[in-house]
Amino acid sequence: MYNNVCDAAMLLGSSRQTGFSRRLGRALPELAPGGLRLREVSIADLPLYHEDLETDSPPRAWVRFRDEIRAAGALLFVTPEYNRSVPAMLKNAIDVGSSPDGSSVWARKPAAIASFSPGRLGGFGANHHLRQSLVFLDVPVLQQPEVYLAGIGDAFDSGGALRAGPVRELLCELLRAFHAWAVRCREVPS
Ligand code: FNR
Repeated sequence: MYNNVCDAAMLLGSSRQTGFSRRLGRALPELAPGGLRLREVSIADLPLYHEDLETDSPPRAWVRFRDEIRAAGALLFVTPEYNRSVPAMLKNAIDVGSSPDGSSVWARKPAAIASFSPGRLGGFGANHHLRQSLVFLDVPVLQQPEVYLAGIGDAFDSGGALRAGPVRELLCELLRAFHAWAVRCREVPS
């Protein structure tokens, strides 16, 4: 029987309590098509990557994070841009998951990216710096639709809920394509 169920890990580039990453993280699971289940994997508690901590008993948060990513069928990155690049917290999570050498948890996990900004460029720099790391980590990233959400503040109402409109529609389109991509990638022999 055709199985289209996919459990995807959602990684948020900022953990700010009232931030837009969190708001998007709350909205996205409800927009996901049937079969796509999105669950946030926390990255805010990961100690900064340092090779000296890569011993027989690495930090517990690293172990927890690596296990959760290994178990995920796909990856959805939702991120703001910091100084035209990826926030350090998200880069740290990528580094933690890529180590130790030969045990990366990222390889061949289908992924999609939504970047955003209160400004006009929609986090384009973060989006593409992230893609650069994911190429190296052998993560097949969905190409289209590209999602750079500019003026993100306007996408939410005063209660913090995502408004109906073009941002919501684009996110629905992204999630449909992401779901199809994740299922298709699973069918490709590795
Ligand atoms: C930013 N911000 C930002 N925005 C942008 O469009 N391009 C950028 O290069 C930067 N750089 C940047 C650096 C630092 C250190 C901070 C704190 C912020 C603004 C950023 O996009 C905005 O604060 C987002 O709302 C952060 O995401 P959350 O916390 O709302 O999820």
